[in-house]
Amino acid sequence: MSPLSRDQLVSQKAGPLLGTVAIPGDKSISHRSLILGSLAIGTTKIRGLLEGADVMSTKDALIALGVTITRNKNSVWQVIGIGLNGMVSPTTVLNLGNSGTGVRLLMGVVAGQAITATFCGDESLSGRPMARITNPLVEMGAKITSRDGGLLPVTISGVSNAIALDYHSKVASAQVKSAILLAGLNARGATNINEPQASRDHSESMLRHFGASVEQNVNADLSHHIQLSEGAILRAADITVPSDPSSAAFAVVAALITPGSDINLVGIGTNPSRAGLIRTLIEMGGKIDKRNERIEGGELVADLRVRYSQLHGIVVPADRAASMIDEYPILSVAAATAIGTTEMLGIAELRVKETDRIKAMADGLIKCGVNVSYDDSSMCVANSKIIGGPILSAQNDHRIAMSFLSLGLIAETPITVTGCNTIETSFPGFASRMNQLGASISDGNAQ
Ligand code: S3P
Repeated sequence: MSPLSRDQLVSQKAGPLLGTVAIPGDKSISHRSLILGSLAIGTTKIRGLLEGADVMSTKDALIALGVTITRNKNSVWQVIGIGLNGMVSPTTVLNLGNSGTGVRLLMGVVAGQAITATFCGDESLSGRPMARITNPLVEMGAKITSRDGGLLPVTISGVSNAIALDYHSKVASAQVKSAILLAGLNARGATNINEPQASRDHSESMLRHFGASVEQNVNADLSHHIQLSEGAILRAADITVPSDPSSAAFAVVAALITPGSDINLVGIGTNPSRAGLIRTLIEMGGKIDKRNERIEGGELVADLRVRYSQLHGIVVPADRAASMIDEYPILSVAAATAIGTTEMLGIAELRVKETDRIKAMADGLIKCGVNVSYDDSSMCVANSKIIGGPILSAQNDHRIAMSFLSLGLIAETPITVTGCNTIETSFPGFASRMNQLGASISDGNAQ
C-alpha cells in the first residue's frame, strides 16, 4: 500500500511551496455533466471528469437507472443519453455514499419520471436533511417516504408530468434548486425558483448548454429568480470540466500561509457564484494574481499565481456565504494566521454539511492552540500561535481533513488527521500533489 493511501496522515512544518499544481475536475460540474448527459438525446463526451468517489457514486446510480456510461483509455467519459423519460426503476437501492449533491440531484431526476427508486448513503449522508428536497418534490406530484426527521433512506415514486412549481426556497442551496429544475424538465408549465442569494449556477449554465431555456435574474432585494421554460428537449453536448475552485482552495491557502511560497494553478473555475473565497483572501491582503481568464466549456476559468502573504482579518459578510459555502473550513485556517480577527457571518448552512463544519473546525483549531469563538451561524478566528500536536478526526468530511492537513504546514508540532480516506470523495491524490509542491504530508513513519 502506498503510504499516502493510509487513512491516517501526519502533516508537519514544511515549505516553501513552489511550482505548478494540477487540480482535479470540478465536483459540482462533474455530477451535472453525467446527469444531464443521461437525460439528453445522443452521446455526450466528458473530458476532465472528477473521478472521485462522490462522482463515481452518481455514475453508478445512473447506470442502475438504465444509462450506459463508459470511460476510454484517454479518460474521456461517454454517456449515452436516454432522454427525459427513458429511465427504469432500479432493482437495487441507490447508495450515494458520502455525496449530498449526488443524492439530492438524483432525487429530482427520479421525481420527474414515472419510476420508483430508494436512496441511501453513508453515516454522514444519513444524518443530513433531505426534507428541503423532498418537500418541493412532493408539491410537484412525487410520492415520497423517508425515515423520521426527513432522513435517508428515502423512496421516491416520480411522475412523468410533474406539476409546474413556483418555489421560494428559504436557503440559498444549489442542490435544492437543481433538484427542482431536474424534476421540472418534464413538468406541465414553467418551473420558477426564488432563492435568497444566488447559489452556484452550474445547473442553469449546463441546461442551456444542452438546449433548455433557462433565465436567471437578480431581484431588487438581491434574491435570485430562475425560470426553466416548459418543454425542454436536451440534446447531447460535449463538456470539458474545469478544475475545482473548492479543491484549489487548499493549495491557495497553503501557499498564502507558508513563508516563501509561490505557486501556479492552471484552468481553475472562476464562475462568480463560486468566487467568494478568492475575493475574501484578496481583501485580506492575499497576493493572488488571476491571469488569462477565459471561457472553457461554457464556464469561466483562469490561471492563478499565489504567493505567501501576511494576511489581515476582515468581516466576511453573510451575503457572500453562498459563493464560498464549501471554503469556510480552509478560510478559518488562513484566518488563524491573519493579523487581528476574522469574522465569518451567516454560515448556519455549515452545520448541515458532511459534518457540522463550524463545530468541527472550531474544536480542531482550539486543540491546535487557535483562539476561536462561534455561535449557531457565525465563527470568529483570532491571530494565534499554531502549536499543533493533536490527533484530529476528519469526521467523515473531506474538507475538514484537508483543512487540518493544510494547518499542519505551519504548526509548531505535527498534526495527525484520522479518517483521511474521505479525501477521495473530492480530491484524489491531495497529499501527493501537495507534497510535490513542497508540503510534508506522510503516514507518520518518516518521523
Ligand atoms: C453543491 C452545492 C452546495 C455545496 C456542495 C455542492 C452542488 O450545497 O455545499 O458541496 O454541487 O450543488 P448547497 O447548495 O446545498 O449549499
